[in-house]
Amino acid sequence: MSALSADAAQSRATLRPMREDDLDRVMRIEVRAYPFPWTAGIFRDCLRAAYPAWVLVEDERILGYGVLSVAAGEAHVLNVCIAPEDQGRGHGRRLLRALVRAARGQAAQRVFLEVRPSNPNAIALYHDEGFNEIGRRPRYYPAHEGREDAIVMAKELLPDTLDRMPPL
Ligand SMILES: CC(C)(COP(=O)(O)OP(=O)(O)OC[C@H]1O[C@@H](n2cnc3c(N)ncnc32)[C@H](O)[C@@H]1OP(=O)(O)O)[C@@H](O)C(=O)NCCC(=O)NCCS
Repeated sequence: MSALSADAAQSRATLRPMREDDLDRVMRIEVRAYPFPWTAGIFRDCLRAAYPAWVLVEDERILGYGVLSVAAGEAHVLNVCIAPEDQGRGHGRRLLRALVRAARGQAAQRVFLEVRPSNPNAIALYHDEGFNEIGRRPRYYPAHEGREDAIVMAKELLPDTLDRMPPL
């Protein structure tokens, strides 16, 4: 697993819970970051269902956001996104780690996510953070031509005690 980039480590950016009044700003990022963005209604439904959701904020500017769902010991990363102009500075890694930490905090034993095969940057980040491909969902996503498969990835969350065991 890579260390956080110096940029992200030194950044003044902080995470706070997402609120409904963030959604205009979140949507301005969402529609630029994804070819098939979520609607504001999807974010609103997640917030009203009390899904854990955060925004990464620097000097009152939203740099990115993440949305998680946790149920029955399983967490799903539903959205993780950094504004295009702020990508490549370590913020995505930081956000993903915060989501995984939150999943662990809610007693999840594993974290799942789906990613498009056409998104190598995200796939590289997930691999690097300990996610492994466990399957594919054929024709899961809308695409410009037809549909695109989803790669399903998962990360096992070991209990804290195991994480802290020294190497044998
Ligand atoms: C995927 C995403 C969240 C990564 O965030 P980011 O802030 O750009 O990524 P980071 O700077 O933290 O980089 C973390 C790792 O991601 C990978 N990565 C990020 N940008 C990359 C690029 N341009 N080329 C190759 N790998 C890249 C690398 O493994 C990188 O690690 P490294 O810096 O040690 O090489 C961001 O690109 C994004 O929001 N994309 C649009 C929305 C999206 O696709 N979300 C994921 C949906 S499944």
